[in-house]
Amino acid sequence: MGCEDCLSRRQFLARSAVAAAAAAIAAGCGNGQIGPTAYQPPSNNGSNGNTIKVGNFPQLATVGTLVKVDSYQAVKRTGATTFDAYSMVCTHQGCLTELTSNMFFCPCHGSEFDSSGQVLRGPASRPLGQYTTSYDATTDILTIG
Ligand code: FES
Repeated sequence: MGCEDCLSRRQFLARSAVAAAAAAIAAGCGNGQIGPTAYQPPSNNGSNGNTIKVGNFPQLATVGTLVKVDSYQAVKRTGATTFDAYSMVCTHQGCLTELTSNMFFCPCHGSEFDSSGQVLRGPASRPLGQYTTSYDATTDILTIG
């Protein structure tokens, strides 16, 4: 029997092994998450009494510019001695957002938040968390939370 498109036994076994390996990898990654693993913030969200020296972040000299001050918080100067602080944890499923074009962008599912943490694009439906701030001009220390 002639069969130009048939696989040899060796070819069949090789392709089966590749398919089985791909299925095993897919099963291990099948949690529905697209993009980086969701970030789980500490129970206190890391904000209680977090302090920064404003002078260590030169971009904070400009009113309105978002500045990442640690791995999960961003700060924006709103006036000579006033600041807003935001959680960078996405309100959709907890991934860490990134700052891009003075906005928050979530790489997991594409949510976008404006520079005040308000949702510009879902799937997130709630604004980013915001912390209270207090600034001591004599020491240049900003206390977040
Ligand atoms: S975790 Fe889904 S958009 Fe951010």
